[in-house]
Amino acid sequence: MTLNTSSEELEYILGVETSCDETAAAVISLDGVLWANVVASQHEVHRRFGGVVPELASRKHTEQIEEIVQKAIRLAGINLNQIKAVAVTQGPGLAGALLVGVSFGKALAYALGVPLIAVNHLEGHVASAWLAHPDLKPPCVVLVVSGGHTHLYFVPRFQEYQLIGRTLDDAAGEAFDKGAKMLGLDFPGGPALDRLAQSGNPQAVRFPRPYLNRGGLNFSFSGLKTSLLYYLRGLEKDGQECVRPDVAGGYQEAIVDVLVEKTFRAVRRHHVHTLAVVGGVSANSRLRLSLEKRADESGVQLILPSLDLCTDNAAMIATAGLWAYNRGEFASWDLDAKANLQTRLSSLPQSTDVQLVRQ
Ligand code: KG4
Ligand code: ZN
Repeated sequence: MTLNTSSEELEYILGVETSCDETAAAVISLDGVLWANVVASQHEVHRRFGGVVPELASRKHTEQIEEIVQKAIRLAGINLNQIKAVAVTQGPGLAGALLVGVSFGKALAYALGVPLIAVNHLEGHVASAWLAHPDLKPPCVVLVVSGGHTHLYFVPRFQEYQLIGRTLDDAAGEAFDKGAKMLGLDFPGGPALDRLAQSGNPQAVRFPRPYLNRGGLNFSFSGLKTSLLYYLRGLEKDGQECVRPDVAGGYQEAIVDVLVEKTFRAVRRHHVHTLAVVGGVSANSRLRLSLEKRADESGVQLILPSLDLCTDNAAMIATAGLWAYNRGEFASWDLDAKANLQTRLSSLPQSTDVQLVRQ
């Protein structure tokens, strides 16, 4: 991603993201250009616990949020009085972690005398597709694939979303993280498994492709980790060596196959020629390769944001914040963090029925 270097008289939105274990701030001008995107990961804090510890995440956000916001403002080369609104992630995410960003954003917006904007984290991920590719023209299909969500949307028009598929249990990112843990990999598991699999043969060990031929456009990943568990137990019982790169490769291939197959099924069903894949798991090297190959073969325009826009960041929150700013949608001063925010993008049907979530 390239950042601009001169910011003169423009007006800006500040984006703040603290939904999980990344403290992030970004600055975007009202014409949609990104000027600063700062992400402080907390991986070191959580590593020894093998997963995100919510209380520690909140504390770390509290410790570093001011510094991160100041850094973003400094990098953008702007003054506080050029900020026209502050956009914060309201949810979904960890309640305590979200609360830090919401409280900080609220206080800053109030002090600056500018409006506060509440952003749904999922809409933030969707917005990263437009940040990466401002000319992206609906109709299109968007797959949001992260640590907490695996959601397929049909987007008939800009900022209008129909949920057409979702995971019925674990998210794809969870499948990566849990699989990585079973293979004894370091936190965060997804990227570690991705790296390990690069030296393995993805065809050497075959895992099931859950829900590939049923469930419409829905996904299910919880059975996959059980298959891995039984596979590893079987090896141990038989005293056989575990070729970890091959196992990681086979496990990853199963997740990637299902994601790619169902996503392109959605593309066909909705007769679109454009597809965007966003969220932390879209940083996976095998998934990116497989999507690119399939898009090439089928003549589909594929939007894959750069890696820094796939995993959690505030540039996507600032972008979705800008959309809300242009719609004139502002939050009240009693805005609360919502761990299970169910508005707009996340009002989820259990079936494969199409649901219109914003008109
Ligand atoms: O979007 P994100 O940063 O946070 C959520 O909103 O959840 O996604 C985090 C998820 C984690 O499960 C992480 O393991 C996964 O994305 N992830 C990856 C890769 N990079 C991040 N999974 C597989 N391969 C990767 N390279
Ligand atoms: Zn996320």
